[in-house]
Amino acid sequence: MPSCHAHLPPLDLERLSAVSVLHGEHRIILRLLDCLDLMAERAAKAHAMPVLEARDVIAVLRGFADECHHAKEERILFPALERLAPGFGPVQVMRHEHDLGRDHVRGMAIAVDAVDVAGFVQDAQAFSGLLRQHIDKENEVLFPMAQAMLSAEDDAAILNAYREAGRERPCGPLLARVDSLAGTYGFASIGESPECTPRHALCGCGSGSGICR
Ligand SMILES: [Fe+2]
Ligand SMILES: [Fe+2]
Repeated sequence: MPSCHAHLPPLDLERLSAVSVLHGEHRIILRLLDCLDLMAERAAKAHAMPVLEARDVIAVLRGFADECHHAKEERILFPALERLAPGFGPVQVMRHEHDLGRDHVRGMAIAVDAVDVAGFVQDAQAFSGLLRQHIDKENEVLFPMAQAMLSAEDDAAILNAYREAGRERPCGPLLARVDSLAGTYGFASIGESPECTPRHALCGCGSGSGICR
């Protein structure tokens, strides 16, 4: 196991790999967080709950960020790293942060049902801050470590497991909903935005989308 991530080579995002796929999905999640941030800011200013849009963003966060993305990390990548380095601490921290995020999403859903604008804004802002920091840690620390730890055979097995997970839980319809939210809040669609288009958002669902191959 590498002793210091500062000495690790940068992530290779040109190559389809266990971590480049997840890095691509992070870009989609960040676009969702852009929408959530603006939604919360406007709700706070207007003292009004955007019920339909809030329910939509919560559903897509649960469906894509949690059930597609975090599931790949928790069920496939993290166990693979733990097999190589038993007790590998960074993934335990990442799992804990996923759980904290779920608590905030649950809080948002309860606040929407109760038309509790302040509660919604508080959980939305806390969630966005937490997940942005979490993604930074994965992109800057965990993924470079994982890239150094995984052999070509490990990578191939993980990519196969991602494809299998994508067949069981297709993400294509959720990506269309991300784009719809992005349009509502004035952001470019994930398919048209160069900074947001992942090179390798592989999910295995065969939706035919350019970002979902
Ligand atoms: Fe994560
Ligand atoms: Fe992640």
